[in-house]
Amino acid sequence: MSRLVYVLNGPNLNLLGKRQPHIYGHETLADVEADCRKLAGELGLELRFHQSNREYEIIDWVHEARETAGGIVINPAAFTHTSVAILDALNTFDAPVIEVHISNVHKREAFRHHSYVSLRADGVIAGLGTQGYQLALRRVAKLIDEKKAPAA
Ligand code: DQA
Repeated sequence: MSRLVYVLNGPNLNLLGKRQPHIYGHETLADVEADCRKLAGELGLELRFHQSNREYEIIDWVHEARETAGGIVINPAAFTHTSVAILDALNTFDAPVIEVHISNVHKREAFRHHSYVSLRADGVIAGLGTQGYQLALRRVAKLIDEKKAPAA
């Protein structure tokens, strides 16, 4: 299986570090990307790291990943709670999908408690801050490795 992993980020995450730091922390998305790239190197993964405020761009990256990638880590941000279209796109992707939220969405407003993306995600990480991305990458690497391992 391909060791290419897409890390996709939804709307407003470009403002990470400036946006409600009491909720999302002080790290910027560039910091998150740098940490992900470092870890990906250690895990032998190749990374495509993207952010968009536009739903269709996220869908297009999922379509691109279908052709090439061994996994997707996605923080769909507010699209988590609204986007059947992103769910439909992820349902066309055959490899592991891990959903990440920096904040604990279950401790927040009721509208954040429902996730369309969770209907497809193989795992969900919420409330572990930006460390959630690292843990998600480790999980994807493990699932890729297990797929490669010969049957016992
Ligand atoms: C978020 C949680 C979402 O509810 C919110 O809309 C975001 C970020 C998180 O990472 O905690 O933009 O996905």
